[in-house]
Amino acid sequence: MSTINLESENKFLTLLTKSAPPFDYEKQIFNDHFENVMSTLNGDNPPPYEIEIQPTSNCNLRCKHCFGTFLTSNRIEDKIGMEEMKILSKRISEFDKDKLKIETVKFCGTTGEPLANPSTVYGIKLFKDNDKKVILYTNGLWLDKKTKENKEYLEYVLDADKINISLDCGTRETFKLLKGVDGFDRIINSLNKMSILRNETNRNLRIDISFVIGEENYLEIYTATKVSKENGADNVVFRFDFTSPEKMKPIIKEIEMQKTQALSLQTQNFKVFFAYTKDDLESNTDSNAFSSRGKKCFNHNFWGCIGSNCELYVCGHRTYKEVKSFGSLIDNSLKELWLSKSRLEKVEDLPDNKCQFCSPSCHRRDCMMSFLSDIGKDKAHYLHNKYIERKIAPQIVVPPIR
Ligand SMILES: C[S@@+](CC[C@H](N)C(=O)[O-])C[C@H]1O[C@@H](n2cnc3c(N)ncnc32)[C@H](O)[C@@H]1O
Ligand code: SF4
Ligand code: SF4
Repeated sequence: MSTINLESENKFLTLLTKSAPPFDYEKQIFNDHFENVMSTLNGDNPPPYEIEIQPTSNCNLRCKHCFGTFLTSNRIEDKIGMEEMKILSKRISEFDKDKLKIETVKFCGTTGEPLANPSTVYGIKLFKDNDKKVILYTNGLWLDKKTKENKEYLEYVLDADKINISLDCGTRETFKLLKGVDGFDRIINSLNKMSILRNETNRNLRIDISFVIGEENYLEIYTATKVSKENGADNVVFRFDFTSPEKMKPIIKEIEMQKTQALSLQTQNFKVFFAYTKDDLESNTDSNAFSSRGKKCFNHNFWGCIGSNCELYVCGHRTYKEVKSFGSLIDNSLKELWLSKSRLEKVEDLPDNKCQFCSPSCHRRDCMMSFLSDIGKDKAHYLHNKYIERKIAPQIVVPPIR
């Protein structure tokens, strides 16, 4: 059996234990998706374990920090109605290869808000009925909107596994300043109603609130945490604005103070997470947590993205007009597009100049995958047997997930 030298093993352990759940990205791919990892190292082009659908490229808000608006002024076309949603569901369900299949469908957007397309709420049940885990990212403004059946959108969301409401502030005034609309109270009311309904109907929906820290809202880290807790959220997740992380440096002291206050609100059922550390921010290398330069992209093996035009893209950060897609899922199967020459050639060449904003979680998966690719499959198996199957990896605290 293959073994590995101490230096490499220590490097692996540093990667494996970099963060606690739910930000243990390296451990998640190595532990939960090891077959995808091995199939990728084999060069087999397995199906992704997660696919993002962007139901629309239009939005009902204008967040100042939105990376989508930095990328383009030209949105891609909207083509997803109920018929298309059904076709996408079929395409996703029929794509399996060597027993690997798509496990999770995430509704999200680059320039768009999923609930701005009325088909999204029906799509949740459609994918759940096809045995997929369903995640919805939304700004939350239209959770109280009604369908033609006179039900609020939030009632449909109860069927999902997780909702992430991108709130980004703790007061009505800052909401308006950041997003251009007076919508804070409306979203908090929907959060409250949804969490009560979730509890009354014993659903498994996990409710997360997210907050992109920037110059205008950093003093509301504590207030946002408090209001989220009081209105039934399970978790609050803070991230730095990855379009301009350098702007965080002069305010990092205040951010750290707010962080301490926010963490003090944690209970058994309510957790607060900071996705990046002060060190991530202070690293000045080209290949830091906020830049894809100098790294090979492996994420395209684990994720894919269907744009609002029903076309396949490499990932959810590249669905804008200036990027060429791999073709339409209305006319082709997902497997055909996934294994097409144009996609296989393109992914060899990533990141490229269209990868302007790549998320820090992607960088971390890339670092783990680069390490495993360098040591090779036999040694990766050895590490998996030693640290995962025999479960002697250093203990990491698991937060309660409803
Ligand atoms: C682009 S939005 C699309 C979905 C939906 N409109 C929403 O806001 O949740 C997807 C996620 O990206 C996050 N996001 C947008 N701009 C960002 C930035 N500059 N830095 C970090 N995250 C950002 C949003 O907060 C949201 O959670
Ligand atoms: S709600 Fe989402 S898509 Fe719309 S502007 Fe804000 S971050 Fe961008
Ligand atoms: S490097 Fe590019 S293709 Fe890869 S995940 Fe990042 S943005 Fe997407």
